Amino acid sequence: MVEIAPGAVPSPNIWNSPRVYEIENRAVDPDGTLEAAMRAVRPWDGATVLDVGCGTGFHLPRFARDAARVVGVEPHSGLAASARRRAKDVPNVTVRVGSAQALPLPDASVDVAHARWAYFFGPGCEPGLAELDRVVRRGGAIFVIDNDATRSTFGGWFRRSLPSYDPEAVERFWSRRGFSREPLTIRWAFDSRDDLRAVLGIEFPADLADACMREHPGCEVDYAVNLWWRCP
Ligand SMILES: C[S@@+](CC[C@H](N)C(=O)[O-])C[C@H]1O[C@@H](n2cnc3c(N)ncnc32)[C@H](O)[C@@H]1O
Repeated sequence: MVEIAPGAVPSPNIWNSPRVYEIENRAVDPDGTLEAAMRAVRPWDGATVLDVGCGTGFHLPRFARDAARVVGVEPHSGLAASARRRAKDVPNVTVRVGSAQALPLPDASVDVAHARWAYFFGPGCEPGLAELDRVVRRGGAIFVIDNDATRSTFGGWFRRSLPSYDPEAVERFWSRRGFSREPLTIRWAFDSRDDLRAVLGIEFPADLADACMREHPGCEVDYAVNLWWRCP
């Protein structure tokens, strides 16, 4: 029986289709642009890393290569179990069921916090930010990765799926809270058009996914994201 911690933001893409979300994760950013940008701000060698909303734990073993300790926090107990299975042979990874608003971690116990397309979407995530301020120690860094709806092929699709989305309000939200913005262009690179269509199908309604396929050739998609970061 799956349990979901209070305060979880429904995430139908990974909650309902974790296998297709795995295809998406494998296709995201094959050039390592996001990781390089984060490392330039605050490397995690020998550090304690927190991945908030870690889903099936795709990023945990990657952080664990250089970090001393990696903690994944995930409100969906089934996904947390998948994350544990993924990291079963990686001794410096632990996974906890919990939410951004009530992190199951002591004060000042984390060096680098990372949230990727999880809960921290702008207005409304203040309780999670207060928790990050509690658990991240001085000299550490908070990273939030989210879509930049103002540009790129993916950004255009995202705005078509969510016409009420207000990128300026989101930017104001992060700026007022002292976050710096690093606009990055990454790409999706799939093995096949079938994989692209499957992933579009978990991100968008079927009619939009079909339109994207008609309009966009090939297996790659340019994708604008914002890396928001702050060093407490
Ligand atoms: C789109 S998935 C991204 C998963 C993972 N970050 C990745 O990149 O593979 C969003 C994740 O955020 C989690 N989530 C939703 N609400 C949350 C909350 N309040 N606190 C922490 N995580 C949350 C979901 O359960 C889901 O696993």
